[in-house]
Amino acid sequence: MDRRPIGVFDSGVGGLTVLREIMKIVPNENILYFGDTARVPYGPRDLEEVKKFVFKIVSFLYEKQVKLIVIACNTSTAAALSDLKVKFDIPVIGVIEPGARASVRVTKNKKVGVIATKGTVESKAYDNEIAKIDPSIRMYSQPAPLLVDYIENGILKGKKLKETIRNYLLPLLAENIDALILGCTHFPLVEGQIADCCGSRVDVISSAVETAKDVEEVLTGEKIAVGTNPKPERTFYETGGNSKFFEVGKMFLGEEIKEVVKINLGI
Ligand code: DGL
Repeated sequence: MDRRPIGVFDSGVGGLTVLREIMKIVPNENILYFGDTARVPYGPRDLEEVKKFVFKIVSFLYEKQVKLIVIACNTSTAAALSDLKVKFDIPVIGVIEPGARASVRVTKNKKVGVIATKGTVESKAYDNEIAKIDPSIRMYSQPAPLLVDYIENGILKGKKLKETIRNYLLPLLAENIDALILGCTHFPLVEGQIADCCGSRVDVISSAVETAKDVEEVLTGEKIAVGTNPKPERTFYETGGNSKFFEVGKMFLGEEIKEVVKINLGI
C-alpha cells in the first residue's frame, strides 16, 4: 500500500479529461493536479520553452512526493517526455504513445487524422509513434489552436465553435480518414461536436482511456498502488487567476472541486 499521490499535469483544464479516466480506473488513488493556467496555451510556444515549464512543474510535483507523473498534455509530452524519463527516478507517462496505439487498433483504411496544437503537429510525435507500430499508415495532421482558447474560456458549445471545428476537420475528412486522434487533451471537452462533424465513418480517439490503463498497469507492475483508501484526496493547483479552471473542472469531472490552490512557480 503506497499512499503517495499521482501527479497529473497540463497547461490548463485539458488534463482533466485524462484525470477523469484515471479516477474511473484507479478511483482510490490520491491525486495532485497541476494546471499551468498562467502560461496556457503551450501550443504556439517554442518546444524548448515548453520543456522549461514542464521541468519546473514536474520538479514541483516530485518535491510533493508523487509516486508517478502523468504528463496529461500532448505538447508537453512531445517537448519533454524522453528527457523527463531520464531525469526523474519515478515513472513518467505521456499521452502520445497511448493515443497512437489506439488509432492503429481502430483504423481499417490506414488513414489516420490528428488534430492537435501547432507544437504537437510540428514535432511529428504522432507520425513517429504510429510509424513505429505500423509504417504503412498515412497520417494527416491539422493544428487546431483556436479550440484550446475556446475551451480555456469555458466555451464548450455554440455556432462559432461548431464552425471552427468544421473548418479544421474538412481538409482531414477530404482525405477520407477513418480515425481521428484528439491530439490535445483539451479536445475531449468538445468531443460530441467533433464526432458530429466527423459523422459515423470516422472513429474519434481520445488518448485518455488508454493512458489511464497505462497508469493502472504501472501501479500494479511497480507494486505502488494505494490499495484500500476510503477517502481519496484530490488537490488542485493552478498558476493563473480568473481562469475557468474551476467551473470547467467541476462540470467535467462530475465531482466538485472544492478548492484550487494558486501557486507561483517563479517561472
Ligand atoms: N492540452 C494541451 C495538449 O494536450 C495543451 C494545450 C495548449 O496549452 O496549447 O497539447
